[in-house]
Amino acid sequence: MVKIGIIGVGTVGEAVIKNLEKNKEIIKARAGKEIKVVKGVVKNLNKKRDINIPLTTNYKEVTQDPEIDIVVELIGGVDKAYEIVKDALLNNKAVVTANKALLAYHRFELQKIAKTPFEYEASVAGGIPIIKALRDGLSANHILEIKGIINGTCNYILTEMKKGRNYQEVLKEAQEKGYAEANPTFDVGGFDAAHKLLILASIAYNIDAKPEDILIEGIENINLTDIEFAKEFGYEIKLLGIAKKVKNQIELRVHPTLIKKEEMISKVEGVMNAISVKGDVVGETMYYGPGAGGNPTASAVISDIIEIVRGNNSPMLGYKIPLEIENLSLKPIEEIESKYYLRIAVNDKIGVLEKIAHILASNNISIASFLQKPKEKYVKLLFSTHKCKEKEIKKAIKEIEKQEFVIKPINYIRIEE
Ligand code: HSE
Repeated sequence: MVKIGIIGVGTVGEAVIKNLEKNKEIIKARAGKEIKVVKGVVKNLNKKRDINIPLTTNYKEVTQDPEIDIVVELIGGVDKAYEIVKDALLNNKAVVTANKALLAYHRFELQKIAKTPFEYEASVAGGIPIIKALRDGLSANHILEIKGIINGTCNYILTEMKKGRNYQEVLKEAQEKGYAEANPTFDVGGFDAAHKLLILASIAYNIDAKPEDILIEGIENINLTDIEFAKEFGYEIKLLGIAKKVKNQIELRVHPTLIKKEEMISKVEGVMNAISVKGDVVGETMYYGPGAGGNPTASAVISDIIEIVRGNNSPMLGYKIPLEIENLSLKPIEEIESKYYLRIAVNDKIGVLEKIAHILASNNISIASFLQKPKEKYVKLLFSTHKCKEKEIKKAIKEIEKQEFVIKPINYIRIEE
């Protein structure tokens, strides 16, 4: 029998315990051995829980228990989780974690420390087996691009806003439904998606970047005007995590994105996640499913436990020898190129358009289309641009915002085609 200790018995922990019990026959058949959770670590022993396993508040009773084979870390957060996981690895336990923030900061150190199996399928896109797809299923490929809706809360908010609903009201609903992180800024600010993107990028490209190194923008500034514009011009607005190989550089970015409504990823609605991965051998592949919630996350955690019990031992990030053959580096944020949509609120005066066009041109930015919305309180100018560099558009935006005819900060959304 294989013995498991679970650190953090909340929604996901309880779902792991219940589903291991509910599906124990098929899990035993697949793993080849019986699997039993023998101990749980919690903060509060008095909290009522719907499970029946011995509980303790001291994680060392799990990480240092010679009887326990696999430690499952489900507490979330970075520092304490790092201390616990490191202790488990140093005590020769196999580890399973669902903790994306921990891996966004410490995956390369943990890979070095781990002499035992270390699995983390649930850390990205909950129930979708994207880690195993990328690390194992697509291991014959150079990965050209990863493009994903990897935060359910943002996708839920953007989907509901299309029905004309208000941002704050929908965010509150996402929190009540349990989709959002404890601090929802992680969701709406794009950080949760960034953590997940960094994990995927390290499998695809061996890039040891931290969240601070990459472009992260959230959905806080998207409003109904942008959503209406998107509809009118045949786009959807999605918060995407994008990892792209451009020559020998890797672009990593998370931001709201206009994508053509015919694209498959545009059709992903509500709290669901979807990830498109392009490989040089396979072409484009697509993965869709529930990215949050107790049961979907437990499905991924249990699959990791089964993989370890079977004796499969894929290298943690998918390579036994570093991928240096490709000599890839992280593309500096200011060099990233994209097309843009700009929404500029201005007073209706002679020469406004000429001035804006001049500023764009002098920053090397070519206008692709233009629309002037009839005057309500003020005039809305909507531009789309051809590809330009991050540093060029940011400079142009600053210069335009300084003009006395501009009423408020410019809204912009990147376009992916
Ligand atoms: N808050 C996350 C989301 C949960 O909304 O996708 C899963 O990581």
